[in-house]
Amino acid sequence: MRKNSSFFHLFLSLALLLGQAKPDPDPLQDYCIADTITPGSFYFNGAPCINPKHALPSHFTTSVLSKPGNTKANPFGFNVTLTNTLNLPGLNTLGLTMARVDIAANGLVPPHLHPRASEVTTCLKGLLLVGFVDTSNRVFTQQLRPGESFVFPKSLIHFLYNYDSRAPAVALSGLSSQNPGAQIVSLATFTSNPPIDNEILMKGFQITDRDVARIRKNLGG
Ligand SMILES: *[C@@H]1O[C@H](CO)[C@@H](O)[C@H](O)[C@H]1NC(C)=O
Repeated sequence: MRKNSSFFHLFLSLALLLGQAKPDPDPLQDYCIADTITPGSFYFNGAPCINPKHALPSHFTTSVLSKPGNTKANPFGFNVTLTNTLNLPGLNTLGLTMARVDIAANGLVPPHLHPRASEVTTCLKGLLLVGFVDTSNRVFTQQLRPGESFVFPKSLIHFLYNYDSRAPAVALSGLSSQNPGAQIVSLATFTSNPPIDNEILMKGFQITDRDVARIRKNLGG
Protein backbone atom coordinates (compact mmCIF):
# COMPACT_ATOMS: atom_id res chain seq x y z
CA MET A 1 0.00 0.00 0.00
CA ARG A 2 2.77 2.46 1.07
CA LYS A 3 4.88 1.48 -1.91
CA ASN A 4 1.97 2.12 -4.23
CA SER A 5 1.30 5.54 -2.80
CA SER A 6 4.92 6.73 -3.08
CA PHE A 7 5.00 5.46 -6.65
CA PHE A 8 1.83 7.45 -7.26
CA HIS A 9 3.46 10.57 -5.81
CA LEU A 10 6.56 10.14 -7.98
CA PHE A 11 4.35 9.70 -11.03
CA LEU A 12 2.35 12.79 -10.11
CA SER A 13 5.45 14.98 -9.57
CA LEU A 14 6.91 13.81 -12.88
CA ALA A 15 3.65 14.58 -14.66
CA LEU A 16 3.57 18.06 -13.07
CA LEU A 17 7.22 18.73 -13.99
CA LEU A 18 6.75 17.63 -17.58
CA GLY A 19 3.60 19.75 -17.78
CA GLN A 20 5.76 22.87 -17.24
CA ALA A 21 7.49 22.47 -20.62
CA LYS A 22 4.68 23.65 -22.87
CA PRO A 23 4.87 24.14 -26.63
CA ASP A 24 2.74 26.85 -28.31
CA PRO A 25 -0.91 26.50 -27.21
CA ASP A 26 -2.97 23.96 -29.17
CA PRO A 27 -5.28 25.47 -31.79
CA LEU A 28 -8.98 25.41 -30.90
CA GLN A 29 -9.97 24.98 -34.57
CA ASP A 30 -8.55 23.32 -37.72
CA TYR A 31 -6.65 26.46 -38.58
CA CYS A 32 -6.54 30.18 -37.89
CA ILE A 33 -5.31 31.96 -41.02
CA ALA A 34 -3.54 35.12 -39.91
CA ASP A 35 -5.22 38.38 -40.87
CA THR A 36 -2.44 39.97 -42.94
CA ILE A 37 -4.51 42.99 -43.99
CA THR A 38 -4.37 44.76 -40.64
CA PRO A 39 -1.38 43.16 -38.85
CA GLY A 40 -0.39 44.80 -35.60
CA SER A 41 -3.68 46.70 -35.32
CA PHE A 42 -3.98 45.20 -31.86
CA TYR A 43 -1.82 42.87 -29.81
CA PHE A 44 -2.73 39.28 -29.32
CA ASN A 45 -0.86 36.06 -28.46
CA GLY A 46 -0.39 35.02 -32.10
CA ALA A 47 -2.30 36.82 -34.84
CA PRO A 48 -6.10 37.17 -35.20
CA CYS A 49 -7.68 34.83 -37.78
CA ILE A 50 -9.70 35.59 -40.87
CA ASN A 51 -13.16 34.07 -41.31
CA PRO A 52 -12.53 30.35 -42.13
CA LYS A 53 -15.03 30.68 -45.02
CA HIS A 54 -12.46 32.86 -46.77
CA ALA A 55 -9.63 30.29 -46.45
CA LEU A 56 -7.78 29.53 -49.70
CA PRO A 57 -5.08 26.99 -50.62
CA SER A 58 -2.72 29.94 -51.15
CA HIS A 59 -2.94 30.75 -47.42
CA PHE A 60 -1.16 27.45 -46.77
CA THR A 61 1.60 27.85 -49.31
CA THR A 62 4.67 30.05 -49.68
CA SER A 63 7.67 30.34 -51.99
CA VAL A 64 9.82 32.45 -49.62
CA LEU A 65 12.14 29.51 -48.99
CA SER A 66 12.84 29.01 -52.70
CA LYS A 67 15.16 32.03 -52.94
CA PRO A 68 18.60 32.19 -51.33
CA GLY A 69 19.14 34.96 -48.77
CA ASN A 70 22.00 37.42 -49.21
CA THR A 71 24.96 36.05 -47.20
CA LYS A 72 26.95 39.28 -47.74
CA ALA A 73 24.57 41.39 -45.64
CA ASN A 74 26.49 40.55 -42.42
CA PRO A 75 30.14 39.86 -41.54
CA PHE A 76 29.45 36.21 -40.56
CA GLY A 77 28.42 35.12 -44.05
CA PHE A 78 24.95 33.68 -43.40
CA ASN A 79 21.34 34.54 -44.05
CA VAL A 80 18.16 33.05 -42.59
CA THR A 81 14.83 33.25 -44.38
CA LEU A 82 11.84 32.43 -42.15
CA THR A 83 8.21 31.63 -42.70
CA ASN A 84 5.90 33.74 -40.55
CA THR A 85 2.25 34.72 -40.28
CA LEU A 86 2.67 37.34 -43.03
CA ASN A 87 4.27 35.18 -45.74
CA LEU A 88 2.50 31.94 -44.69
CA PRO A 89 -0.66 33.05 -42.83
CA GLY A 90 -2.00 29.46 -42.62
CA LEU A 91 0.63 28.46 -40.06
CA ASN A 92 -0.79 30.87 -37.45
CA THR A 93 -1.39 29.00 -34.11
CA LEU A 94 0.09 25.73 -35.49
CA GLY A 95 3.33 26.07 -33.51
CA LEU A 96 5.68 25.82 -36.49
CA THR A 97 8.26 27.84 -38.39
CA MET A 98 10.42 26.78 -41.32
CA ALA A 99 13.77 28.37 -42.00
CA ARG A 100 16.08 28.39 -45.00
CA VAL A 101 19.67 28.90 -43.89
CA ASP A 102 22.19 30.01 -46.52
CA ILE A 103 25.85 29.95 -45.46
CA ALA A 104 28.70 31.24 -47.64
CA ALA A 105 31.97 29.28 -47.98
CA ASN A 106 33.46 29.20 -44.44
CA GLY A 107 30.49 31.27 -43.25
CA LEU A 108 29.05 30.86 -39.77
CA VAL A 109 25.66 31.13 -38.12
CA PRO A 110 27.26 32.33 -34.86
CA PRO A 111 26.34 30.87 -31.45
CA HIS A 112 22.69 31.80 -30.84
CA LEU A 113 19.54 30.49 -29.20
CA HIS A 114 15.79 30.38 -29.74
CA PRO A 115 13.95 31.08 -26.46
CA ARG A 116 10.68 29.47 -27.60
CA ALA A 117 11.64 26.59 -29.91
CA SER A 118 13.60 23.43 -30.49
CA GLU A 119 15.02 23.19 -34.00
CA VAL A 120 15.70 20.30 -36.32
CA THR A 121 17.97 21.14 -39.23
CA THR A 122 18.67 19.17 -42.40
CA CYS A 123 21.69 19.88 -44.56
CA LEU A 124 20.48 20.20 -48.16
CA LYS A 125 23.75 21.25 -49.80
CA GLY A 126 27.38 21.53 -48.72
CA LEU A 127 29.26 20.48 -45.59
CA LEU A 128 28.14 21.67 -42.16
CA LEU A 129 29.65 21.48 -38.71
CA VAL A 130 26.79 21.98 -36.24
CA GLY A 131 26.60 21.82 -32.48
CA PHE A 132 25.04 22.96 -29.23
CA VAL A 133 26.09 23.40 -25.60
CA ASP A 134 23.91 21.98 -22.82
CA THR A 135 23.42 23.58 -19.39
CA SER A 136 26.29 21.52 -17.92
CA ASN A 137 28.58 23.11 -20.56
CA ARG A 138 28.92 19.91 -22.56
CA VAL A 139 29.22 20.40 -26.31
CA PHE A 140 27.60 18.10 -28.85
CA THR A 141 28.87 18.57 -32.41
CA GLN A 142 28.43 16.73 -35.65
CA GLN A 143 29.37 17.06 -39.30
CA LEU A 144 26.43 16.98 -41.67
CA ARG A 145 26.38 16.04 -45.33
CA PRO A 146 23.39 16.58 -47.62
CA GLY A 147 20.34 14.69 -46.32
CA GLU A 148 21.61 14.45 -42.74
CA SER A 149 19.81 16.10 -39.83
CA PHE A 150 20.60 17.37 -36.33
CA VAL A 151 18.38 18.63 -33.53
CA PHE A 152 19.05 21.63 -31.28
CA PRO A 153 17.08 21.40 -28.02
CA LYS A 154 14.95 24.41 -27.06
CA SER A 155 16.80 27.49 -25.75
CA LEU A 156 20.29 25.96 -25.88
CA ILE A 157 23.15 27.86 -27.57
CA HIS A 158 23.98 26.39 -30.98
CA PHE A 159 25.85 27.15 -34.21
CA LEU A 160 26.13 26.07 -37.85
CA TYR A 161 29.45 26.39 -39.70
CA ASN A 162 30.14 25.78 -43.37
CA TYR A 163 33.54 24.12 -43.16
CA ASP A 164 33.90 24.02 -46.94
CA SER A 165 36.13 26.94 -48.00
CA ARG A 166 34.94 26.85 -51.60
CA ALA A 167 31.21 26.13 -51.84
CA PRO A 168 28.15 27.66 -50.14
CA ALA A 169 25.89 25.48 -47.97
CA VAL A 170 22.11 25.37 -47.56
CA ALA A 171 20.14 23.94 -44.64
CA LEU A 172 16.42 23.72 -44.01
CA SER A 173 15.20 23.95 -40.42
CA GLY A 174 11.90 23.33 -38.70
CA LEU A 175 11.25 25.15 -35.41
CA SER A 176 8.63 24.23 -32.82
CA SER A 177 7.03 27.67 -32.44
CA GLN A 178 5.44 30.16 -34.81
CA ASN A 179 7.56 32.81 -33.08
CA PRO A 180 10.82 31.06 -32.08
CA GLY A 181 12.78 34.27 -31.43
CA ALA A 182 16.57 34.40 -31.83
CA GLN A 183 19.39 35.84 -29.76
CA ILE A 184 22.90 35.86 -31.20
CA VAL A 185 25.15 35.67 -28.14
CA SER A 186 27.90 38.01 -29.42
CA LEU A 187 25.46 40.65 -30.69
CA ALA A 188 23.20 40.47 -27.61
CA THR A 189 26.17 41.09 -25.29
CA PHE A 190 28.29 43.54 -27.31
CA THR A 191 25.90 45.45 -29.58
CA SER A 192 22.76 45.78 -27.44
CA ASN A 193 20.80 49.03 -27.38
CA PRO A 194 21.52 50.75 -25.06
CA PRO A 195 24.94 49.12 -24.60
CA ILE A 196 25.74 46.95 -21.59
CA ASP A 197 28.18 48.77 -19.29
CA ASN A 198 31.85 48.10 -20.27
CA GLU A 199 32.59 47.11 -16.66
CA ILE A 200 30.13 44.21 -16.96
CA LEU A 201 31.65 42.95 -20.23
CA MET A 202 35.22 43.35 -18.94
CA LYS A 203 34.49 41.28 -15.84
CA GLY A 204 32.17 38.85 -17.60
CA PHE A 205 34.62 38.02 -20.38
CA GLN A 206 37.85 38.76 -18.47
CA ILE A 207 38.97 41.30 -21.07
CA THR A 208 40.14 44.92 -21.09
CA ASP A 209 38.30 48.11 -21.93
CA ARG A 210 40.18 48.14 -25.22
CA ASP A 211 39.06 44.58 -26.06
CA VAL A 212 35.44 45.62 -25.43
CA ALA A 213 35.81 48.56 -27.82
CA ARG A 214 37.45 46.39 -30.48
CA ILE A 215 34.81 43.64 -30.28
CA ARG A 216 31.98 46.23 -30.40
CA LYS A 217 33.55 47.81 -33.49
CA ASN A 218 34.15 44.43 -35.22
CA LEU A 219 30.51 43.49 -34.64
CA GLY A 220 29.26 46.78 -36.02
CA GLY A 221 28.05 48.05 -32.63
C1 LIG B 1 19.30 38.48 -45.50
O1 LIG B 1 19.19 38.90 -46.85
C2 LIG B 1 18.24 39.93 -47.04
C3 LIG B 1 18.16 40.20 -48.52
O2 LIG B 1 18.12 38.98 -49.23
C4 LIG B 1 18.67 41.17 -46.27
O3 LIG B 1 17.69 42.18 -46.39
C5 LIG B 1 18.84 40.82 -44.79
O4 LIG B 1 19.38 41.91 -44.07
C6 LIG B 1 19.77 39.63 -44.63
N1 LIG B 1 19.79 39.20 -43.22
C7 LIG B 1 20.92 39.09 -42.53
C8 LIG B 1 20.77 38.60 -41.12
O5 LIG B 1 22.02 39.31 -42.97
